Amino acid sequence: MTSPAIRDRTVLVTGGGGFIGSHLVEALAPYNDVRVLDNFSTGSRDNLSVSSTSETGSLWANDTPASADGGIDDTENDDGRAEGTGEDADPDPDLDPDGSLTIVDGDISDPMALQRAARGVDLIFHQAALVSVTESVDAPRRSNETNLDASLLVLDQARQEDARVVLASSAAVYGHPDELPISETATTEPTSPYGIQKLALDQYARSYHELYDLPTVALRYFNAYGPRQQGPYSGVISTFLEQARADEPITIEGDGEQTRDFVHVSDIVRANLLAATTDAVGEAYNVGTGERTSIRDLAELVRDAVGSSSPIVHRDPRSGDIRHSRADVSKVRHELGFEARVGLESGIRSLVTGAAGEQGYSSPSTQQGAEQGQGQEQQQQETQQQPLVARPERQSQD
Ligand code: UD1
Repeated sequence: MTSPAIRDRTVLVTGGGGFIGSHLVEALAPYNDVRVLDNFSTGSRDNLSVSSTSETGSLWANDTPASADGGIDDTENDDGRAEGTGEDADPDPDLDPDGSLTIVDGDISDPMALQRAARGVDLIFHQAALVSVTESVDAPRRSNETNLDASLLVLDQARQEDARVVLASSAAVYGHPDELPISETATTEPTSPYGIQKLALDQYARSYHELYDLPTVALRYFNAYGPRQQGPYSGVISTFLEQARADEPITIEGDGEQTRDFVHVSDIVRANLLAATTDAVGEAYNVGTGERTSIRDLAELVRDAVGSSSPIVHRDPRSGDIRHSRADVSKVRHELGFEARVGLESGIRSLVTGAAGEQGYSSPSTQQGAEQGQGQEQQQQETQQQPLVARPERQSQD
């Protein structure tokens, strides 16, 4: 299965400075005119100005990792960059990288900023969101403003531009699942305002297709992980990695028998690229691996990969925690031709070795002159690449 090439398009990535958004930018920027709209509240300009010796490393199966250059606000650049689409094929030597990257520092809830960023685009990847479930519980209206109200502005802007929208939904739409694996037709009973907002957005996407013929695709991400995932809401893998690296106790919440479907960000990028070209629009798709891993197994996996002496300890379970989660991937496989490629053990190993700078999963190969007003200063550097080990291990089964 190969991912389709997205070439010569004008593309907006909302939240392009964030964890998943920045990987999408990395994949798209070499051969497309890419705009990023981000208020950098949780995302970072550093994610768009990565150097060749990134701390986190980057995984692009069989691809030369891409670079990002230093477009500052509305300044467009036309510098050559290497490919990093996460696709099967090696970079096409016949294609000149001639994309550009424009960063609009603004909020998706600001109609002017949105208009400016979206002018003339034919494709929007809507990744911007307040991703903290806890914050959504503390302040539902605040998160609703971003996750739903502002998202509707994005959908309306897409109508204006006649642009396709691929948007980030979440497994949070399902709440506590009735059965595993969780199919797209499962009951949707979100347990948090965040999940409710994602569900509403996911449904709006479908209805914008039905009502206005807008091509939309909602991707319900399961538990995402990978390079550049950090911060207080970053997920169990990055927390465990940090703890293991510091030889501090790895803290399991509850008995550790709860399970999750962990999906690598490079697979999420590929799902987005497939959604950008599919005819099967107006639909929502699970994006997961179809496998599940217990948190206990995960803790051991991370500890082994790091070679850490961290003890594994237990503390109180998280209130309202979902016990088990595993995506039914038959629809996404059938309709989008998507299959996750990165096995958890391989993905974690590469995070560890990438961080140590020992492996060729390098990050984008150019560095931006990132400070506003400095213009662009770009440094092309050679990067190496190394294919991923494709899903060799299954950590646990149903
Ligand atoms: C994840 C998403 C959330 C989404 C939900 C959908 C992240 C960060 N969150 O939540 O946005 O709504 O999927 O199903 O990806 N754990 C520990 N120790 C820790 C941290 C976590 O044991 O230090 C446990 C948690 O109790 C939980 C599991 O690991 O059982 C996963 O936690 P987490 O990574 O926060 O993700 P979800 O709760 O699944």
